[in-house]
Amino acid sequence: MSNSPIGVFDSGVGGLTVLKVLAEHFPSESFLYLGDTARLPYGSKSPETIRKYSEQNIRFLIQQGVKAVVIACNSASSQIVEKDFDKVPVFTVIEPGAKAALHTSEGTIGVLGTRATIASGLYEKTLLRLSSAEGRSIQIFSQACPLFVPLAEEGWVDDPITNLIAYRYCQPLAQKGVDTLILGCTHYPILKSSIQKAVGGGVALIDSGSAITLQLKEEFSLGHLSASSSSGQRIDIRTTDISPQFEAMVHQLMSPLMIHSLEVVTL
Ligand code: DGL
Repeated sequence: MSNSPIGVFDSGVGGLTVLKVLAEHFPSESFLYLGDTARLPYGSKSPETIRKYSEQNIRFLIQQGVKAVVIACNSASSQIVEKDFDKVPVFTVIEPGAKAALHTSEGTIGVLGTRATIASGLYEKTLLRLSSAEGRSIQIFSQACPLFVPLAEEGWVDDPITNLIAYRYCQPLAQKGVDTLILGCTHYPILKSSIQKAVGGGVALIDSGSAITLQLKEEFSLGHLSASSSSGQRIDIRTTDISPQFEAMVHQLMSPLMIHSLEVVTL
């Protein structure tokens, strides 16, 4: 089992921002990525639908023989509370993101996410639980950013329109004095430069990829996950729908890492 891949899923292409960080930090581990492109977006759907889709994705990855599942998608992570499925450990990005933010912040934290993630309130609840356990008092300000996902999918990176929209979403948080901002959506690291400009250079940005990497390092060192003994890495990508644009995004976002296979699957 230790040489089996780690499964990673997202609603679409955005989770590749998480996959890339994981693949770079764990060069001996192999990864099987599932992008549910046929049913994207998740962030505007009901909690019941997001949960149903997420469970199907998890079961698909488990059937493919993964040793663990990382839910890269924040919208899906905000609806799944199980720690494992059929004894396969399942990791979400919410608690790692909250821990990373608390580590960086002096006490005023902003959260950006899809409507589903922000409506779940899970980042806020997790931040409050972790900070009160440390005896700290913090302030949290959240903002749903529904226009960010289509902008990232369109590749409008550091574009004047994207900069304006980022300013509109992020300025209220900057005015509240946030010192740390959680990018609570897999697509947002693609728009990092616009978001950083909008909040100011002094605000620390927390992305799901770096946060879940720290969590997996801990899982490996505690022996909760067994490390691969293989010297090579294999990255396979599965999607529920494919377009030339998706294929181009895969190679652009994952470069210079090599993709072993890219196939369409039915769940
Ligand atoms: N991947 C989703 C997330 O991280 C954003 C895209 C979507 O709405 O499906 O929340």
